[in-house]
Amino acid sequence: MNIGEYLKGKKRVIDAALEKIIPKEPDFPQSLHKAMRYAIFPGGKRIRPILAMAAYEVVGGKGNGILPYACALELIHTYSLIHDDLPALDNDDYRRGKPTTHRVFGEATAILAGDALLTEAFHLMSREGLGGEVDPRDAIEAIDEISKAVGSAGMIAGQVVDIESEGRKVELSILEFIHTHKTGSLILVCVRAGGRLGRARDVEMEALTRYGKSIGLAFQITDDILDVEGSRASMGRAPGVDIARNKITYPALLGLEESKRRYEELIGKAIEALELFGDRGEPLREIALYIGKRSS
Ligand code: IPE
Ligand code: IPE
Ligand code: MG
Ligand code: MG
Ligand code: MG
Repeated sequence: MNIGEYLKGKKRVIDAALEKIIPKEPDFPQSLHKAMRYAIFPGGKRIRPILAMAAYEVVGGKGNGILPYACALELIHTYSLIHDDLPALDNDDYRRGKPTTHRVFGEATAILAGDALLTEAFHLMSREGLGGEVDPRDAIEAIDEISKAVGSAGMIAGQVVDIESEGRKVELSILEFIHTHKTGSLILVCVRAGGRLGRARDVEMEALTRYGKSIGLAFQITDDILDVEGSRASMGRAPGVDIARNKITYPALLGLEESKRRYEELIGKAIEALELFGDRGEPLREIALYIGKRSS
């Protein structure tokens, strides 16, 4: 398979669905809707919704029931980026190839646009559960798991420890906590929600969980490496910001070589976890390889 074409095709489907979900710019209050659209479009890699769709499909999920969930996961991710870039957090000026949302719309509107994206995500998922293609019980279980993954036991916990660790010497176990929570939790739950909504069997869920955990941590290790080796042109954001802010990262703690060895090991583990799926596992396998090799 051609992974580039696969990712492009999925992104097209997700973007068309997102286009319908986000209120139009002329709708009052315009500033809010403009900021929401500004953060969502043209967007980044859309890897989280793509993972949800790929996991849904690998277990035999059919139809469009996964699409609202895939979009909701991208709304949650985008909200997390808006807030991550705020002056009180990472204070970044550039994201997805353009000035950050707060630089264009001001902090208050950026915070509120993030709040709105997060809230809309849960509306979207529950509405689909109430009258869509997926089983209502599966819908509630997916929503339950997603809310836990991005809340104070998941993504937010990672973000807090990330911020509190700036400029401090911390152990590898804390660094791993930061990465598996701030980034790994959401990536894992994208894969698991796809599996659950596609009605995965227990053994399939177990395989998807091992896969999701490995790629989740690998994803943040490569994000750290890109901060050292990447370019503003390819990433659409500024490199070197972790070093400037004394962030605790894999390259800072273990060096570049060891960081690369670790992500390669994790990608290998992720691919191993897919064995059960045979040829059907190819898209997920290719996505894992893509995560290790990406330039943005
Ligand atoms: C960036 O995520 C923030 C992290 C959690 C590492 P992505 O690298 O997926 O960003 P986009 O969505 O492609 O812009
Ligand atoms: C972001 O981690 C994690 C979340 C947004 C939850 P980073 O701060 O490393 O992401 P970038 O490098 O700004 O994209
Ligand atoms: Mg951050
Ligand atoms: Mg950041
Ligand atoms: Mg980063």
